[in-house]
Amino acid sequence: MSETTDLSISNLTVKFGGLTALDDVFLDVAPNTIVGLIGPNGAGKTTIFNSISGLVTPTSGEISIHGKKMKWPASHQLAEFGISRTLQGVGLFSGLSVVENVMMGANITSGSNFLKDLFGASGKAEAKLRRRALDALAWAGALDMAEKMPGDLTYPQTKRVSIARALISQPKILLLDEPAAGLGQDDIDKFAALLKQLKQRCAIIIVEHHVDFIGAISDQVYVLNFGKVISSGTFDHVKRDPAVLAAYLGTSTQTGSEKLGGGHA
Ligand SMILES: Nc1ncnc2c1ncn2[C@@H]1O[C@H](COP(=O)(O)OP(=O)(O)OP(=O)(O)O)[C@@H](O)[C@H]1O
Ligand SMILES: [Mg+2]
Repeated sequence: MSETTDLSISNLTVKFGGLTALDDVFLDVAPNTIVGLIGPNGAGKTTIFNSISGLVTPTSGEISIHGKKMKWPASHQLAEFGISRTLQGVGLFSGLSVVENVMMGANITSGSNFLKDLFGASGKAEAKLRRRALDALAWAGALDMAEKMPGDLTYPQTKRVSIARALISQPKILLLDEPAAGLGQDDIDKFAALLKQLKQRCAIIIVEHHVDFIGAISDQVYVLNFGKVISSGTFDHVKRDPAVLAAYLGTSTQTGSEKLGGGHA
């Protein structure tokens, strides 16, 4: 809750009927840092994002944004609160160019009237939106793809474009849910470099199953299991935490350590 956090969550509990998806979860995100969220399938990672972005109504809990205690944001308020997310599995529109797809992100994230902006009376508004889209593409390392059609992109390039689409609203906090899924090691390394640059611009909360990748990029890591934060701190700290090793691979500490990248430390 301090003024030095971009986002602070405490006591977040989410119940779906009889299922407690999140139980008393806390999370602090300092400006210009990357916070990694890891944990087994069904641990509640996406539900944290859904709570922050208005897709799920928390049963209880508090959220502070830029040091100010707020109501949980509705999805149409995200841009106003400086929050943006990539949506898992939401592809690009094949009939629009890359830059137009990114311009579309302004609509998705802010609720503004995109079609009016893009095709309406104001050519000025379109030019402004296009400049913002090009800026977002540059930050995502995808400026040279601006005039291409989505069908001409490689899979790693589409990942960059979807980041650009989230950046067009100029967020202070960017939520990325499994952005590296399906990438090969080379592209994961390039993606890690991109995110480290991007944190100069905004704080990033990232959910990923690639634990080594999370370790390489994160300033802080939170580990969830069965809806609870079972460990938090630097990656070096959490990867040695017995609670984390047990959660990942039963009680086999040595194998768990290897799974969490400890074997290479
Ligand atoms: N809208 C919903 N209604 C009912 N149950 C839900 C809903 N969303 C999530 N759940 C349940 O809440 C739990 C946490 O799900 P969540 O999607 O947050 O996990 P996760 O950590 O993101 O998992 P994964 O790594 O597989 O993406 C799961 O048991 C899931 O089935
Ligand atoms: Mg998930």
